[in-house]
Amino acid sequence: MLLDILAYESPLTFERYMELCLYHPEHGYYARGNLPSKKGDYITSPCIHKIFGATLARQIIEIYELLKTEDFLIVEAGAGQGFLASDILEYSEKKGYTFNYLIIEPFSTIKEFQEKTLLKFKSRIRWLKSLEELPKFKGIFLSNELFDSFPVKLIQKNKRKINEVWIEIKNGNIKEVLKEVEDDKIFKRIEPYSSFWEENYRTEVCLKVEDFYKILSEKLEEGFVITIDYGYLRQDYYSPERNKGTLLCYYKHRIMDNPYFKPGEMDITSHVDFTLLRELGEKYGFLNIGFTQQGSFLVSLGINEIFYEVSERSWKDMEALKFLIFPEGLGSSHWVLIQAKLKEKPEKGLKGFSLSNRIYLLYTN
Ligand SMILES: C[S@@+](CC[C@H](N)C(=O)[O-])C[C@H]1O[C@@H](n2cnc3c(N)ncnc32)[C@H](O)[C@@H]1O
Repeated sequence: MLLDILAYESPLTFERYMELCLYHPEHGYYARGNLPSKKGDYITSPCIHKIFGATLARQIIEIYELLKTEDFLIVEAGAGQGFLASDILEYSEKKGYTFNYLIIEPFSTIKEFQEKTLLKFKSRIRWLKSLEELPKFKGIFLSNELFDSFPVKLIQKNKRKINEVWIEIKNGNIKEVLKEVEDDKIFKRIEPYSSFWEENYRTEVCLKVEDFYKILSEKLEEGFVITIDYGYLRQDYYSPERNKGTLLCYYKHRIMDNPYFKPGEMDITSHVDFTLLRELGEKYGFLNIGFTQQGSFLVSLGINEIFYEVSERSWKDMEALKFLIFPEGLGSSHWVLIQAKLKEKPEKGLKGFSLSNRIYLLYTN
């Protein structure tokens, strides 16, 4: 069915193909209620253990104490099964903080999962379908693995020209077609790196994230943006060796590099260009506060102490802790970026960056 819809729009850009595969309101991967989980196609930190959300709650409490605003709100976009929200609210409550939480969730199938997980906190949670609907707020905007799921432009270098990948669908067959890029926004992103690329070099450019930041900056009156995701600095993203880009598909816990294998039935992702998020932060009036790997962030916040507070200290709990902080797990592939819109720059750094703050990396090229 999705293939018919794609064929109807053919020829279409890869970006549009990815958008329909993931977000078509009826047949898209996410619209059909597919989410990260131990049994699903892939796993994310909030599904691993409640210690992740509990540790993040410590950072949130510190930010709350810094802002000291009565109408403090935590906004999370793409909240998955609602585990992160639940673990943050539970730990904060234990520490005497009863925060209000708002989830931005475009799909009712997914909202139903979240409602079940968050039943206990029903009176403090609201849902909206999009960032556009969100009123101005003060507090925290939080996301875990949101930006890696934004549709991207797929580009390829041939004969010294940069081309965009388009898709043609005929008789159920998907074929790629290259068209020369004319969009200046794409060139700005890949220069000066593209001159070092070899023939057939392929990569991605995410343009959609800029619209999101623009709207977010209009909505967040005062507060912090916490982004957790996997990604690279721009110079690593577009390095000559990464000649196949970062596009990956997940299907039943298997990683695939063919995005046309099962349209609408598998997740399609690409890594985040963190240099871009830093630039967008500046462009839209945020301070770039801190940047570090997930492992360092969680350890700085005292995940080892929180481990004793929120877990049974079993072998399984210990394995989960290691997976969250060690490089063999998600500890160094995933990064935490915190940006802020504030009246004044905070006097001291945030606890999550006490062991390391590598924000300077986002200013190198
Ligand atoms: C990779 S999943 C991550 C889910 C969850 N945060 C986790 O870590 O388990 C990405 C989620 O972001 C959602 N999403 C994508 N774009 C969004 C947007 N503009 N607003 C809200 N949610 C969005 C997708 O529907 C999907 O549920």
